[in-house]
Amino acid sequence: MLRRALLALLPLIGTAFAQSASSYTDSGNGFQFTGITDPVHDVTYGVVLPPLVTSGNQSTEFIGEIVAPIASQWVGIALGGAMLQNLLIVAWPNGNQIVSSTRWATDYVQPVAYTGAATLTTLPSTTINSTHWKWVFRCQGCTQWNNGNGIDVTSEGVLAWAYSNVAVDDPSDAESAFNEHTDFGFFGIDYSTTHNANYQNYLNGNAGSTTTTTTTTTSPTTTTSTSPTVSATPYDYIIVGAGPGGIIAADRLSQAGKKVLLLERGGPSTGETGGTYVAPWAPGTNLTKFDVPGLFESMFTDPNPWWWCKDITVFAGCLLGGGTSVNGALYWYPADIDFSTSAGWPSSWTNHQTYTDMLTARLPSTDHPSTDGNRYLEQSFDVVQQLLAPQGYSQITINSNPNYKDHAYGYSAFDFINGKRGGPVATYFQTASARSNFVYKDYVLVSNVVRNGSQITGVQTNDTSLGPNGFIPVTPKGRVILSAGAYGTPRILFQSGIGPSDMLKVVQGNTAAAANLPPASQFINLPVGYNAQDNPSINLVFTHPSIDAYDNWADVWTDPRPADAAQYLSSQSGVFAGASPKMNFWRAYGASDGNTRYAQGTVRPGAASVNSSLAYNASQIFTITMYLSTGITSRGRIGIDASLRGEPIVNPWLVDPIDKTVLLQALNDLVSTVSQVPGLTLITPDKTQTIAEYVDLYDPATMDSNHWVSTTTIGANSTVAVVDENVKVFGTNNLFIIDAGIIPHLPVGNPHGVLMSAAEQAAAKILALAGGP
Ligand SMILES: Cc1cc2nc3c(=O)[nH]c(=O)nc-3n(C[C@H](O)[C@H](O)[C@H](O)COP(=O)(O)OP(=O)(O)OC[C@H]3O[C@@H](n4cnc5c(N)ncnc54)[C@H](O)[C@@H]3O)c2cc1C
Ligand SMILES: *[C@@H]1O[C@H](CO)[C@@H](O)[C@H](O)[C@H]1NC(C)=O
Ligand SMILES: *[C@@H]1O[C@H](CO)[C@@H](O)[C@H](O)[C@H]1NC(C)=O
Ligand SMILES: *[C@@H]1O[C@H](CO)[C@@H](O)[C@H](O)[C@H]1NC(C)=O
Ligand SMILES: *[C@@H]1O[C@H](CO)[C@@H](O)[C@H](O)[C@H]1NC(C)=O
Ligand SMILES: *[C@@H]1O[C@H](CO)[C@@H](O)[C@H](O)[C@H]1NC(C)=O
Ligand SMILES: *[C@@H]1O[C@H](CO)[C@@H](O)[C@H](O)[C@H]1NC(C)=O
Ligand SMILES: *[C@@H]1O[C@H](CO)[C@@H](O)[C@H](O)[C@H]1NC(C)=O
Ligand SMILES: *[C@@H]1O[C@H](CO)[C@@H](O)[C@H](O)[C@H]1NC(C)=O
Repeated sequence: MLRRALLALLPLIGTAFAQSASSYTDSGNGFQFTGITDPVHDVTYGVVLPPLVTSGNQSTEFIGEIVAPIASQWVGIALGGAMLQNLLIVAWPNGNQIVSSTRWATDYVQPVAYTGAATLTTLPSTTINSTHWKWVFRCQGCTQWNNGNGIDVTSEGVLAWAYSNVAVDDPSDAESAFNEHTDFGFFGIDYSTTHNANYQNYLNGNAGSTTTTTTTTTSPTTTTSTSPTVSATPYDYIIVGAGPGGIIAADRLSQAGKKVLLLERGGPSTGETGGTYVAPWAPGTNLTKFDVPGLFESMFTDPNPWWWCKDITVFAGCLLGGGTSVNGALYWYPADIDFSTSAGWPSSWTNHQTYTDMLTARLPSTDHPSTDGNRYLEQSFDVVQQLLAPQGYSQITINSNPNYKDHAYGYSAFDFINGKRGGPVATYFQTASARSNFVYKDYVLVSNVVRNGSQITGVQTNDTSLGPNGFIPVTPKGRVILSAGAYGTPRILFQSGIGPSDMLKVVQGNTAAAANLPPASQFINLPVGYNAQDNPSINLVFTHPSIDAYDNWADVWTDPRPADAAQYLSSQSGVFAGASPKMNFWRAYGASDGNTRYAQGTVRPGAASVNSSLAYNASQIFTITMYLSTGITSRGRIGIDASLRGEPIVNPWLVDPIDKTVLLQALNDLVSTVSQVPGLTLITPDKTQTIAEYVDLYDPATMDSNHWVSTTTIGANSTVAVVDENVKVFGTNNLFIIDAGIIPHLPVGNPHGVLMSAAEQAAAKILALAGGP
């Protein structure tokens, strides 16, 4: 609200102003005004008065104009040079119209409608185009106010202006509320010089001439050449995709006062965001599949999994929160090697700790997510602890020692909050949503960015209610940030004529998409989709008599164990307050190529599949997934098929035989102490198969860890990378990427912690980069 005071009028009269009004001619309508252009916001304010008369209708009127860059969300004039007790005029654009009103304030709060006899009429030379709005208006009954004061039109006065880059609450409503101006100022004006003999011509829509003082017969409706053009609301930043990358970017940019639009193709996820996919055993609550951590495994067994992107052949979340609304929420504070130059980061990124600290302050991890502080279903932790101890491992609190990733294990850590899925949706998205300069639109699919060569002018959506033909513009210095994920962002780039020529040919072959491509002369050749990485991962399945396999999570959605469901409903505690992973461990391996590779293990009760000739008790199974992460050299490629579906086109797993050698070593080391744990049995692979045979036969489709990175990697130049060290797409002026695709190499742990720190850093670098809004 309006808490900052404008100064009082009287002390200003006779003082020197930084600016004084002078005469200028508006080249658009030819009117001669007296006014100023504020150098900071580039807004022009002008007035022109009728020939001096002391009585009659025209003795209290004037013509004014406000010419404002499109970033100006509302602009006001205080005719008495102060906020209180004088006539205020406020205006803003709404679509192709200017909405205006006269207001009055008796305190430094929201001004109310002026009750006196003042009439605003918008004149035909008013225009709105892609860069400016210009409001030319007649203000009748405006130089005398109903408190008895007014302007002395024969003398000097003071005009105050107020400016805001934050939109009013309801742009269609002339009496809309709005926040306090983001800036204001004053200028002196000598009214005695502002009376103009052409005033009547101006009212009639023509500039007249300096010698003509009589009225003309020109109709005010003949000014068709200046009729307003339709334009959608432009934004400083348009962010595509509300996954962790897009949400954090949106929060930090809106926090910095930028006008931000976040577009998401999917709909709500958690109950807090309006999600309604409530667990059948939780009627009357807002506890959706995306809220309850213990429902994670049911993401993969639900008969109607509507949240997966149907046009990407690997798992990707198409709903608010993206992957973080459907993932296991394993959350690792970044290790220093995750942002090292050896991992491919520019040296300007290695000081990640500042941004990691910003992240963990907003979103701390927990390794005991149940609200009662207890840990549940931890039998597999205890068994694997016995397996690892003889191998020289130590137990640590993993996120208290992010750099300790060799021979270390600990309880799995998550970004759950209060026994529910937390992540960026419960934190950053909430603070962004509270800001009036932040707009979120869901169920909006972006197909491509619209550009003129290297300059992005906006985004093409499928929603014609947001702009003509679905086009939404950025402001003149505005920027677009793609955060549509490691598959979604490349697809948008391809459809924008950015990427390798074979992918652009695919788009050219698709009639609908081809229509949105820029001319081929403007194509930008970048290695979009190359360098793709995902952790190669192999599951080993064991049994042990102490294990509670939790019925392999099969019934958690439809028929949970009653006591566990009841406990969760009453206090968000118990088994359902945690996801399936219970323990993680890491070990570093040297290799013949000199690289150090890291193996990560994730331990959970249950198993995705069992293939065993051994008799086993299905109630006692658990899985260790062994991943290879930092240090691997294998890379693949992702792309699109003729129907524009995103897919891996070269699998990234174990391409380099050394990666495979190390993974085999890690698996063999892991099982080397099985016989030292009483009752522990490896059932997949079983005794009929060696680990090597098992890995050789492993279905690549089940090697997918859903940790895709590097498909639009950061790097030194456009030969090897897609974005530069400011995450700006090479060859463009104002297109950026903040999502998992920019990460140049797999992190040592599951990636979304590193991604969120990277998003913090990327947002800071974008804000610091000159030339922006
Ligand atoms: C099943 C699964 C389990 C995982 N488990 C873990 C884990 O336990 N720990 C971990 O660290 N990581 C895990 N991950 C990985 C992690 O979730 C991802 O790395 C992370 O979500 C990537 O974030 P992002 O911002 O790059 O993209 P995403 O999370 O994919 O978000 C992209 C968003 O953009 C939207 N979008 C896409 N295209 C468009 C378009 N054209 N127009 C408008 N909107 C669009 C999508 O709907 C989505 O909301 C898992 C991933 C999956 C799929
Ligand atoms: C002046 O105002 C009166 C009544 O308000 C109206 O009848 C008259 O037409 C006006 N004259 C001009 C020149 O606008
Ligand atoms: C848009 O309007 C402004 C203000 O009237 C004008 O200066 C500018 O030239 C116009 N731009 C275009 C592209 O018409
Ligand atoms: C569920 O969420 C809606 C919308 O936020 C809210 O109105 C309602 O009170 C919530 N219900 C419960 C039981 O918390
Ligand atoms: C745009 O696409 C999204 C995602 O596919 C869809 O949910 C939405 O209904 C579409 N909007 C229109 C207007 O077709
Ligand atoms: C495209 O940009 C060039 C300058 O780079 C400019 O001359 C031209 O007018 C622009 N075209 C459009 C349609 O804006
Ligand atoms: C199951 O294991 C056997 C060897 O024990 C192997 O021959 C077979 O291919 C495996 N089946 C599957 C589906 O992996
Ligand atoms: C299988 O394991 C469960 C859980 O430990 C146990 O209750 C059951 O008796 C076991 N069944 C057999 C046949 O051993
Ligand atoms: C691009 O960067 C790579 C890696 O740093 C380097 O090897 C290559 O020489 C660079 N190419 C150009 C054209 O600068």
